[in-house]
Amino acid sequence: MAQIKVKNLRKEFGSFTAVESSTFTIEDGEFFMLLGPSGCGKTTTLRMMAGLELPTSGEIHIDGEDVSNKRASERDIAFVFQMFALYPHMSVGKNMSYPLLSQGMPRAQAREKVLEVARILGIEHSLKKPVRGLSGGDRQRVALGRAIVREPKAFFMDEPLGALDAEFREHMATELRALHDRIGATTVYVTHDQMEAMQMGDKIVVMNHGVIEQFGDPQQIYDWPATKFVGEFIGSPAMNFLDFHGSVARGSTSVLLGDCEMSIPESLDEYSGAVTLGVRPEHIHFSDHSSYRGEAIAVEYLGTTQIITIQTPHGIIKARVSSEVAVNSGETLGLTFDARTLSLFERTSGRALLSETNKAVIGNG
Ligand SMILES: Nc1ncnc2c1ncn2[C@@H]1O[C@H](COP(=O)(O)OP(=O)(O)O)[C@@H](O)[C@H]1O
Ligand SMILES: [Mg+2]
Repeated sequence: MAQIKVKNLRKEFGSFTAVESSTFTIEDGEFFMLLGPSGCGKTTTLRMMAGLELPTSGEIHIDGEDVSNKRASERDIAFVFQMFALYPHMSVGKNMSYPLLSQGMPRAQAREKVLEVARILGIEHSLKKPVRGLSGGDRQRVALGRAIVREPKAFFMDEPLGALDAEFREHMATELRALHDRIGATTVYVTHDQMEAMQMGDKIVVMNHGVIEQFGDPQQIYDWPATKFVGEFIGSPAMNFLDFHGSVARGSTSVLLGDCEMSIPESLDEYSGAVTLGVRPEHIHFSDHSSYRGEAIAVEYLGTTQIITIQTPHGIIKARVSSEVAVNSGETLGLTFDARTLSLFERTSGRALLSETNKAVIGNG
């Protein structure tokens, strides 16, 4: 069990900066997600935390101790690169006891420890079987078991479910999370899959081009994206952005979307300039009373909900509405947005302009 602090961690490869001055804290027992698109610096960050990659600058503290200059083997972290890295001809029990015996633990004690962990994982009846004959799920459990028996301070996992097909991946994600809740060990998990991060994480760091865009719990990140990038990267379909040709003046209390005025509960005291509105697909509703109109150009049925693609005067947006709402392609729709949930971004930087208590409100048009 461990608290992990990362301070101003930075990595340059020659003239290329893979990770810019990252700072975040992982609390003891948290399931922590490093999320971002491929190439954004997740693996490099995790490897520096584990001691497998030398940082250009910055510090890593585990339980208050500066481990920046300690080797990987001295940090007491179990790194699960790839869950299938097992010895296929050896039995489940031998695969799991291997790390203990190589540390010099007496056989009887190792056997007891393996049995205890095998029970947690539900594989106690397979201990004598060779790994080779096991199902994918059981192999995954053995690989985890081999990491768990060592009782490391923390588990690091780099896209562990990446190679699995969608259905099995979802199943293993649920199982990993349940397992974490049982053993409570600090876990740092790297993924490029926003659904996986939202589903499993207590906390999420969203990275892009080596920079931390946002740090928070899944709901904060979904409801209050700190940047346009986060709004777009999290959620499916992505947050919609309306780049209307207007700007706000310092002290504005409303913005104009076409001839539709949207009030803002608090004035934008700190900012004047071009802005972009952000609205989640499920926060768009249809109302004949709204003067803000768009044309439905595609309707995708998804069971309970449907995704309606709409051409508005300010670009194409996607709405998620109940399938009980009758919509036909080609139809003109009056649109309203949920007032509480609107985001407003500075156009050039993509930075969010409204805090949780300072959200834009859209009128009914
Ligand atoms: N050893 C290396 N030498 C040079 N560039 C590297 C090295 N390792 C990673 N990079 C670069 O650093 C960036 C971040 O890589 P990585 O941390 O693996 O990203 P991610 O895990 O988010 O996909 C990428 O552009 C990658 O090409
Ligand atoms: Mg990676």
